[in-house]
Amino acid sequence: MAVNGIPAITLVLLSLTLPIIAHTDYHYRPTSRSFSRPYTSDASPRNQYSGSLNPTHAHMDTRSTSSKQRAHVDDGTIVYPDTPSCAYGLCFNVAGYPKEQIQRILSRSQFMNSYFEVSEEPVIIDNRFNTDEMSLCETKVHTIYPEKANNTQKIERVIVNVEGHKQGIVFETCVDNGKCKFSSNFPTGYTSYCKQKYIHKRLMVLGDNDKFVFDSFEVPSCCVCTVSRSD
Ligand SMILES: *[C@@H]1O[C@H](CO)[C@@H](O)[C@H](O)[C@H]1NC(C)=O
Repeated sequence: MAVNGIPAITLVLLSLTLPIIAHTDYHYRPTSRSFSRPYTSDASPRNQYSGSLNPTHAHMDTRSTSSKQRAHVDDGTIVYPDTPSCAYGLCFNVAGYPKEQIQRILSRSQFMNSYFEVSEEPVIIDNRFNTDEMSLCETKVHTIYPEKANNTQKIERVIVNVEGHKQGIVFETCVDNGKCKFSSNFPTGYTSYCKQKYIHKRLMVLGDNDKFVFDSFEVPSCCVCTVSRSD
């Protein structure tokens, strides 16, 4: 992970995903280890992700879940609600999203097809820890296919995300921003905390005159255990 401006040691932590605590913004889907892809009708098997690593996956899902289902957390899959929503500045299920206009532009710009992901497949973030390793911060993994977001200049943009032409953002967030595990054993005079990091990501957006252009967006990336001098 890149050097950053924090005046101390920064330990980069990527997920050893532990069972996560339900956050009220999200709904959890129970036992079936399936991933739904709300924008596709593809009925191919979706259980190929039930590997032993069992990372905590999050993704958006337009299906509703009953409160009974929500009550049971098993694989930690986060199901985003089917109403227009924004999470971490990334909005999806946007009312009035210009899907037809985007599809029309795509249909006469075939050369761009190789840029896009075809469908919403949750991307596995490698578990970079062996079984005897663990992360100092608890994290959860999200996959969002944003339809709208503010660019780095704070101008709202419509992001290309239609069936067959997907731009997914996979990121980790801190489950809480409290102290890191084992912080009592850190050197005296240092305070630790789990800190959310962000990156700038380029995404294809709808520009003027029926054209697509790239724009930059600040998106969450990962959660790191950071220490700073407390005196
Ligand atoms: C972009 O920023 C404006 C002003 O802060 C805000 O009202 C709007 O909801 C933001 N749009 C998105 C997609 O987050």
